[in-house]
Amino acid sequence: MKPKLKIFLAGAIAIAAPQFAHAAEKVSFNRDIRPILSDICFTCHGPDVSKIKGGLRLDNKESAMKGGESGPAIVPGKPDASEVYKRLITHDADDLMPPKKSGKTLKPEQVETFRRWIAEGAEYQGHWSFIKPERPAVPGKSAQFSVLSSQSKQGVQSEILSTEHCTDVSAKSPRTVCFAS
Ligand code: HEC
Repeated sequence: MKPKLKIFLAGAIAIAAPQFAHAAEKVSFNRDIRPILSDICFTCHGPDVSKIKGGLRLDNKESAMKGGESGPAIVPGKPDASEVYKRLITHDADDLMPPKKSGKTLKPEQVETFRRWIAEGAEYQGHWSFIKPERPAVPGKSAQFSVLSSQSKQGVQSEILSTEHCTDVSAKSPRTVCFAS
């Protein structure tokens, strides 16, 4: 192979690789599914019970599993058996979701994201602001961090907690101090 071509190929692979990595990544409820649901579905299937259509709520897993008038809306692992997915791909204009008159549509890649999410188990997550961010393990170090809570600053309590607890720092608890031990 000519050296120039080699360099070109290496560059092309480097540019393409992150996209492949993204394609293989698991669908995340909060990142990929929640925005679609709240933009497009929650007006008629959301937490506002007075506006619920078809007896179906999609804003929590329990209700989605239970489904609406036609039974379970989501069957984890089985998009083809899930009413939610069927309603996104149907050719019957009466059944298609969201209904035409809502003026909203799903892009084909959003439909595919739904399919993958259900195929991967249809995990729901709490609202993003209530979830602790995940901190990747620090390589070569024990995953132990010292956490000084507000109490420990006052000398009441001092604890060694795992990295998960440390992530409180970036969340809503400014009084928690966390550093590598
Ligand atoms: C403008 C209101 C509206 C929006 C937006 C909407 N739907 Fe619906 N949906 C309905 C109505 C009305 C029904 C009941 C009539 C029917 O079954 O077609 C229904 C029924 C359903 C059902 C069947 C429930 C059952 O058990 O019979 C599913 C599944 C569903 N919708 C999924 C969705 C999804 C997923 C979205 C978002 C992509 C969505 N809908 C957006 C109005 C809406």
